[in-house]
Amino acid sequence: MEPNVTAQDADIERLKEFEARIARGESIEPKDWMPDRYRKQLIRMMSQHAHSEIVGMLPEGNWITRAPTLRRKMILLAKVQDEAGHGLYIYCGAETLGVDRAELISQLLSGAAKYSSIFNYPTLTWADVGVIGWLVDGAAIVNQTMLAKASFGPYARAMVRICKEENFHKRQGYESCAILAAGTPEQKAMVQDAVNRWWWPSLMMFGPSDADSPNSAELMRWGVKRKTNDELRQRFVNMTVVQAQAIGLTLPDPDLRHDEVTGDWHHGEIDWSEFWSVVKGDGPCNRERLAARNAAHDQGAWVREAAEAYVAKQAGRARASAA
Ligand SMILES: [Fe+2]
Ligand SMILES: [Fe+2]
Repeated sequence: MEPNVTAQDADIERLKEFEARIARGESIEPKDWMPDRYRKQLIRMMSQHAHSEIVGMLPEGNWITRAPTLRRKMILLAKVQDEAGHGLYIYCGAETLGVDRAELISQLLSGAAKYSSIFNYPTLTWADVGVIGWLVDGAAIVNQTMLAKASFGPYARAMVRICKEENFHKRQGYESCAILAAGTPEQKAMVQDAVNRWWWPSLMMFGPSDADSPNSAELMRWGVKRKTNDELRQRFVNMTVVQAQAIGLTLPDPDLRHDEVTGDWHHGEIDWSEFWSVVKGDGPCNRERLAARNAAHDQGAWVREAAEAYVAKQAGRARASAA
């Protein structure tokens, strides 16, 4: 037998065993054998997720200095710091797949990598901060709760902790919206306007419809995703409609209707042309976000240099004491 045929057979065997492990619900760990496609898909998903956490600090970070009370400022500071932690945590998870974090970050800074399109929208008023917590973190929880059952161990474990923090993010946002909705007419109008602007982009966070999502089938087979984009979006809509009603806010969708049979709230048509234009870089703040990340990276150069100098010094000391 030709040697390359043997190697190919061995790969087919390993793939069968890999898929059997996933079917048994076992988690795949970094040192386990995995198909190249699986590794690549996970690096793509995890790095996009980490980038989203990091870029996601910008729209709200913009309001830290303008938070209306000390309590709100402390909450917002804690939330934005949590998002930084989520990003670092997921970059670490991605590194276990054999990719260098510096490389991932350079892809973000050059604009080659994608991140969640929701963060390319501006935060125009204070109410946006509440609505982001309620809707954007709310949508993120639906996605991330599903990812906590993903087949790749480091990703799934990262999600468990992250989801706990996301729950706090959502609650503080919903609480802020409830207070504004019960406030003066101006406050109520401000929060309703923010809901009107964020509702549709939040629905787009789940990604294209199943029919237009080329990666979905493979990701489902390998247990990276457990539910389709449309299923998760439906779950989010069902939860949120009731929450909006409870605080007297209206979701900007005249076609929203309750299906008595399934219990689902059906939503109107999503404007996918808007989604694709934001993904391709033409959203309201794409350029601003990338410029802010690049400026932060450049301003942090001295920290990276100092850290490297420190490591070199420590290594020198270790060598001297070993001699
Ligand atoms: Fe987060
Ligand atoms: Fe969050």
